[in-house]
Amino acid sequence: MPHPDLSDRAKRMEPSAIRAMTKLAAGAGRDLISLAGGMPDPATFPLDRLADIAASEIRNHHGRSLQYGMTAGFRSLVEWICKYLRQNGIESTPDNLMCTTGSQQALDLITEVLIDPGDLIFVETPTYIGALAVFKKSGGVMIPVAQDEQGIVPEDLEKQLRSAPSDKTRMIYLISNFQNPSGVSISADRRKQVAEIAQHWDAFIIEDDPYREIYFDAKNPPPPPIATLIPDLTFYLGTFSKIVAPTFRTGWITAPESLLRKVELAKEAADLCGSMLDQRILYRFCNAPEFVDHLQSLRKFYAERGLTIQEALSEFMPAELAWTHPSGGFFVWLKLPETMDSESFLEEAISKEKVSYIIGRPFTADNSAQNYLRLAFSAEPPERIREGVQRLARVIKRRL
Ligand SMILES: Cc1ncc(COP(=O)(O)O)c(C=O)c1O
Repeated sequence: MPHPDLSDRAKRMEPSAIRAMTKLAAGAGRDLISLAGGMPDPATFPLDRLADIAASEIRNHHGRSLQYGMTAGFRSLVEWICKYLRQNGIESTPDNLMCTTGSQQALDLITEVLIDPGDLIFVETPTYIGALAVFKKSGGVMIPVAQDEQGIVPEDLEKQLRSAPSDKTRMIYLISNFQNPSGVSISADRRKQVAEIAQHWDAFIIEDDPYREIYFDAKNPPPPPIATLIPDLTFYLGTFSKIVAPTFRTGWITAPESLLRKVELAKEAADLCGSMLDQRILYRFCNAPEFVDHLQSLRKFYAERGLTIQEALSEFMPAELAWTHPSGGFFVWLKLPETMDSESFLEEAISKEKVSYIIGRPFTADNSAQNYLRLAFSAEPPERIREGVQRLARVIKRRL
C-alpha cells in the first residue's frame, strides 16, 4: 500500500526483480546453479596483493587513507584514470573527471542533475535494471528504443526522437560494450550514427561502459567509445567493479566540465566523498605494471566461460530458441518462443532443477520481453555452467 505521506519520488521506487529472485533462490540450497547473478567470480580477486596494499595504506600516510577526501576523488587515482582513458581515445583531465561510489551512483547523480519529471530518457530494449530503477525514481519518461545484434537501432532512435516533444531535456542511455543484459555491443558504424543523431537532436548521451575490458579475443578490443565522437554531449561512465572488485565501490564519470561541476555538487550533498582507503588501494593496484597482466588473465578467465555457455546452449537448447553471441562481458540473452513467459517456469527451475536465471521483463521500460531471460556466465565455473544450461533446457522442453 503506498503511504500517503511519502514523496512522489519514493512512491515511484519499486523492489528489484533481482532481489526478489535472490530471495526465491535462497531457499534452494547449495546445489543451486546460479545463472542469475551477474557478479564477478571471487576467484578473480587478487586477494594477497590487495591485502598487502590495504595493510600498508592503513599503516602509512599518517591516517590520511582513513580520512575524508576530495569529493571528486583521490587525485592520483583521478590522474591514473585520465591516463587510462587516453589509451581509449578519451581526452579527459582532472578538471572533467570525477570518481563516484560505483557507476551506479554516477547514474543516480547524472539523472538528478539532468532530469525533471516529464523529461525524456531514451533506453535500449532491453537495458540494465539498475539504470531503469534510477530513471523511474526521477519521474522522467522512459522511451524504449529497439536493439538488435549490433546494438541500438539508429533508425528507431531517430524515429523516437522525432516524435517526442521538443521542449523537454533528452537523454539517451547506452551500454556500448557487452551489454547487460543482452551481451551485444554497438558496432563502430552505429556508434557514429548514434553520435550524429544525438548531435542533431541535441540529446545528452550517458555511455555506461563497465564491461569494456572483458573482451574475449585479446587481439580484438572494442571500438572507441561514443564519448570520443561527441565529448561535448556525453557522460562516459566506467567502474573498477568488474576489473578489480565491486567492494571498492569506485567508478568514474568524464563529462564536459560545467556539467560535471553540478554532478560534483550533487555528490557532495549525497555522501561528501568516496572512501579514500578504497581509492588509494585501487590506485596502488592499477598503477603497478602487473595490472596489464591482471586484465589479460580476466579476459582469458571469462572467455572460457563465454565459450562454454555457447557450446552448452547449442548442445542442449531446443531449436525453437535463439540467443545472443557476445564476444565479451558476463551475459547471454535467451529468446523463447513468443507465447512462452520466462516467469512461468522460474519457480520450477529453481525448486525442481536447481538452476536460476533472471526473467526478461524487468530489463525493459515497457514491460515487454516476457519471452526472454538473462543468463550470467560470470559466477559459476565452466562445468557448472554446462550442467546449469542442461537443467534449464529440461525445464524449457517440458513447457514447449
Ligand atoms: C550496465 C551496468 N551499469 C552499472 C553497473 C553498476 O556497477 P557499479 O558496481 O560500478 O556500481 C552495473 C553492475 O552490474 C552494470 O551492469
